[in-house]
Amino acid sequence: MGSGSPLVTIDGPAGAGKSEAARALARRLLVRYVDSGSIYRAITLEALDRGFDLDDTQALQELAAELKIEVETDPAKPPLVKVNGTPVTTRLRSPRVDETVSLVAKVPGVRQAVTRLLWDLSQGAVVEGRDMGSVVFPGVRKKVFLDANFETRVERRSRQAGDWGSDSTEHIEEDLRTRDEIDQLRESAPLRIPQGALVIDSTRLSVGEVVDRIVLYLNSK
Ligand code: DC
Repeated sequence: MGSGSPLVTIDGPAGAGKSEAARALARRLLVRYVDSGSIYRAITLEALDRGFDLDDTQALQELAAELKIEVETDPAKPPLVKVNGTPVTTRLRSPRVDETVSLVAKVPGVRQAVTRLLWDLSQGAVVEGRDMGSVVFPGVRKKVFLDANFETRVERRSRQAGDWGSDSTEHIEEDLRTRDEIDQLRESAPLRIPQGALVIDSTRLSVGEVVDRIVLYLNSK
């Protein structure tokens, strides 16, 4: 493993509220935060821009290994992701990336490249994703699994889509269903509740309430 262990991992499906909770928690604790999904999105965007065939796992693996990806980990600053020096943040949540990111993220060679980057970035940080507590940082003591019911997750993604561009609710529903299936059924690091994780159902909780629960958990033995 790289330079060190994160403070806490937060895993869960799309729309469970991980990014907002991870950021707010990191701000409260004055530590860094890492959104691992944004790294998979950046690789996907680059593959699409270059016109890659997304079934070509060898090409995707090579691309992931060669790209220089930089992410802003200060939760007090706006999110920023750069690929080979170019900011791509505003393009990472387009419907095109939403539709294809799970195909890129299921390639084992891509996951290895991202895992290496995460090992370098995550010392003492709040890290969120799908396999943070189960595969990338299995030795971390504090692990959270954040979930919410399907309707709530669709609603949250619809709200985000409104912020980032536009997408219909039907399309978001279909995309979440497909991504859930690919993320849960893939062979390499599928979405799982990590052993010993605190499970939080955020369906009826605000971001602040989720953060309160995680802080209590971090302060417990
Ligand atoms: O959290 P998100 O929606 O931005 O993640 C985008 C995709 O990236 C998600 O559908 C699956 C993949 N992902 C992953 O496989 N492993 C992670 N640790 C984070 C995201």
